[in-house]
Amino acid sequence: MTGIEEELERAKDIWAASEFYTNAENSTEYFWDPETPFGRLLEDIDLKGYVLEFACGHGRHTEILVRHAKKVIFSDLIHRNVDLTLSRLAGSKNAVGYHSDGKSLSFCKSSSIDTVFSFGDMIFMSPDLIELYLRDIYRVLKVGGRAILHHSNVDADLASFSALGGRFRMTCEKFASMSEDVGFSVVRQATVDHSLAPALDGLTIVEKPGLKLKMRRSKRR
Ligand SMILES: C[S@@+](CC[C@H](N)C(=O)[O-])C[C@H]1O[C@@H](n2cnc3c(N)ncnc32)[C@H](O)[C@@H]1O
Repeated sequence: MTGIEEELERAKDIWAASEFYTNAENSTEYFWDPETPFGRLLEDIDLKGYVLEFACGHGRHTEILVRHAKKVIFSDLIHRNVDLTLSRLAGSKNAVGYHSDGKSLSFCKSSSIDTVFSFGDMIFMSPDLIELYLRDIYRVLKVGGRAILHHSNVDADLASFSALGGRFRMTCEKFASMSEDVGFSVVRQATVDHSLAPALDGLTIVEKPGLKLKMRRSKRR
């Protein structure tokens, strides 16, 4: 088994059933409040078009996204989570869910998405897995499309999943640099305080730039 396959097996064990899902329902409104770091960043995100949410969990954000978007394409590593989200959205004609392989957005066509939305997932991913996702997010976004991504901002190797809530080593700077290596331009970043530590997490908005910007960047290399 490769490192990523082992990581995915671990993730399946952790997320098949977790207290997180019920506890998190109480804090959903906080994230959408325009006064919070997440809410403030949403000003720079278009939620009206084709929105892809990966790692939907039990669909607490999906339920809000379908109110805004033309279409929401959602996915999760755990089959049951996709089913639960589908039943939560019963009656919404603008949503479609997929069970994901945990390392790609293979269910999604290239250049078909205006906005990618992910919360509470990348914080638990290794940099290798994040890189795979960043490449596929780039592929599925239309030119000018953006992704809002929630990642770890912990600059230390953590010994166990329980340390700092299971976060992997990552910083806002490293996340920005990995995004740029894939071809994105970084629009905005913010840190998020957590009860476990200040500035524990990062939020990054990236954009798939137009041809001119890409050419300028490759000339600089
Ligand atoms: C902390 S929960 C967040 C769920 C949801 N975004 C929310 O905020 O309520 C993490 C979610 O990520 C999913 N997940 C974990 N690893 C994944 C991967 N490699 N690819 C896709 N989904 C994954 C889990 O199944 C779980 O639903």
